[in-house]
Amino acid sequence: MDAVFQRCISPDCSATCEARETHFLCPRCGGLLDVAYDWDRLAPPKTLREFEAKWSDRSNPLNLSGVWRFRELLPVAEPNQILTIGEGQTILQRADALAAYVGMQAGKLFLQYEGLNPSGSFKDNGMTAAFTHARMVGARRAACASTGNTSASLAVFCSTTGLMRAVIFIGSGKISYGKLAQALDHGALTVQIAGDFDDAMLRVQQVARKLGIYLVNSINPFRLEGQKTIMFRILEALRWEVPDWVIVPGGNLGNVSAFGKAFMELTELGLIARPPRLAVINAAGANTFYQLYERFGLRWNEGRWDAKLVDKYYGGLDAEHIRAATIASAIEINRPVNLSKALRALDRCGGVVREVTDQEILDAKAKVGACGLGCEPASAASVAGAKKLRQEGVIDAGERVVSILTGHQLKDPTATVAYHSTDQKTFEEVLGQRGVRRANFANRAIQVSNNLDDIIKVIELYS
Ligand code: F0G
Repeated sequence: MDAVFQRCISPDCSATCEARETHFLCPRCGGLLDVAYDWDRLAPPKTLREFEAKWSDRSNPLNLSGVWRFRELLPVAEPNQILTIGEGQTILQRADALAAYVGMQAGKLFLQYEGLNPSGSFKDNGMTAAFTHARMVGARRAACASTGNTSASLAVFCSTTGLMRAVIFIGSGKISYGKLAQALDHGALTVQIAGDFDDAMLRVQQVARKLGIYLVNSINPFRLEGQKTIMFRILEALRWEVPDWVIVPGGNLGNVSAFGKAFMELTELGLIARPPRLAVINAAGANTFYQLYERFGLRWNEGRWDAKLVDKYYGGLDAEHIRAATIASAIEINRPVNLSKALRALDRCGGVVREVTDQEILDAKAKVGACGLGCEPASAASVAGAKKLRQEGVIDAGERVVSILTGHQLKDPTATVAYHSTDQKTFEEVLGQRGVRRANFANRAIQVSNNLDDIIKVIELYS
């Protein structure tokens, strides 16, 4: 076995296979796979400060990339095999005005702006690693099911690198226009399925297996290697100090799984003293993880998590015809494929799960926009969740908290415009049916006649 290989995450199975294979699920037990490292045969850094040497050499694309400048911690490929499009150049922003809204002390709340990636979401961190692996295995076509951002990222990587043809599966009418626009503009073969994301996710796995298409959803363990680097960049921005909390919206649970793995490895390598705590925030209309973890007490349990409980829960959803439903369409998911890895992450990092309503999400989103760079609805769940955890006293006002803003504000203009709209009909159509009653922080456009005096009057009155 090479120093880099794949291993089933179930300790009772622990089956291994070569890095060059493309199973995406354990060939022995059907569980999830990790990319695993024999660190003794690799060259991980002795301290995180070693990465600072790369800052002075940004003409090397691998050092410019916010993913590959940490390549010693995800040594999945030789440097000359890596495919990068300049992803991961994102920032950690201190957000004092927002801290007041969340109930935190100034200087304690930070936002990690993953919307600054080339395709406008955190997915590019993972896609560059998946594409690197896809090239290693000689893939010609790549597929994903998506609520919009994975497909946008796949489409951008295909159009930029020319490596593969993109085939994307989306639920009909389920993805926002900004994301659909990206898939179409970048030339992806776009298959709209009469169903939702959970349906599309099942189908894409069947199709990928049958046609031998390379799958880039987050069950692909190489993708999650790339997403680990979001945590490395946070540590880098905090000058290698570990925050107290990292808060992330939960959909398919790839991010939280990747973050947990990042901290497990950093701890194992002696590069940090302790991991931060992780909080996953579900939308209340797509709250499987919250229900299973907080209500039914599902735990990692050293890999012997209660699969029967999960089956029973899904059976109940089917019996009652419950489908995921939230304005945060990116996380409109009821059957997260990375459930077991997410349980492991929460186990290792003292994790919690919360749910927030669409009302809380949109109010938080308006506040994020008014205080900084802005985000799409799903991302704002991480701020609404921070506020909730503060109110509950789970997070202290003086703890250092990082909320991950996963996607760009322009991904879903429909939700934003409806929230700020003066038109009651638009508000009702887009948000009313989601249980959103008020736009508590609306910034309404002013209607005025095309007359200079009237225009001036309005400006004097409101500014
Ligand atoms: N935030 C945004 C903006 C997303 O697009 C997603 C997932 C998540 C959060 C949830 O992340 O799956 O790692 O828990 N979007 C996927 C997609 C499902 O198809 O674009 P997760």
